[in-house]
Amino acid sequence: MMSMAKMTQMLLPGMLARRCGVIINVSSAFGRNPTPYLALYGATKSFADFFSRALLKEYGKYHIAVQSLTPYTVSTNMVKNAPPTTLLPPADTYVRSALSTVGRASRTHGYLPHSILGAVLDRSPSCVRLLYIKLFQYRASKFMARLQLQQRD
Ligand SMILES: NC(=O)c1ccc[n+]([C@@H]2O[C@H](COP(=O)([O-])OP(=O)(O)OC[C@H]3O[C@@H](n4cnc5c(N)ncnc54)[C@H](OP(=O)(O)O)[C@@H]3O)[C@@H](O)[C@H]2O)c1
Repeated sequence: MMSMAKMTQMLLPGMLARRCGVIINVSSAFGRNPTPYLALYGATKSFADFFSRALLKEYGKYHIAVQSLTPYTVSTNMVKNAPPTTLLPPADTYVRSALSTVGRASRTHGYLPHSILGAVLDRSPSCVRLLYIKLFQYRASKFMARLQLQQRD
C-alpha cells in the first residue's frame, strides 16, 4: 500500500505537467468484496481499488488514466506457476488482454473469463462468494501438496 502511494506521489507531478499519463494499479478480484480467510490480502487489494478510483476522479480531468485492475488467478510465481486453464491464464495472455483495456475501462478484471466469473460472483450472495474462496483455497492446498511431493522425489 505504501509503495503504491509513494510511487504515485513520485510520478503524478510529471504526468500533471505533461497533462497526460497512465497509472495501472494491480488490485485483485479479492479486493472487490470482503474476503474471509484472505482477510489481510483482500483488505490491501481493496485499498488499491479505492485509491485508484479516487485518483481517477481527481486527475481524470487532466488526461491521466487511472486503472484499477482486479484479476482473479493468473499463473505467476505468486501461485507457483500453476498449470494454466481458461480461468487461470498464463501471465503473458493475461497481460496482453489487460493492456488492451487501458483507456477503455477504469476498473476491470482485465480478461474476459475473469469478467464473466466476476459478473456472476459480484451478483451472488456472500455465501456463494465464500464457497468460491473455499474452493480456491482447497485447490491451492492440493496443488501445493502435489508440488511438495514432486520436489521431494
Ligand atoms: N497471480 C495472481 O493470481 C494474482 C491475482 C490477483 C492479483 N495479483 C496481484 O498482482 C501483483 C503481481 O503479482 P504476480 O502474480 O505477478 O506475482 P509474482 O510473479 O510473484 O511477482 C511479484 C513481483 O513483485 C516483486 N516484489 C515482491 N516483493 C517486493 C518488494 N518488497 N519490493 C519490490 N518488489 C517486490 C517481485 O520482484 P522479484 O521478481 O525481484 O522478486 C515480482 O516482480 C501482486 O500485487 C498480486 O497481489 C496476482
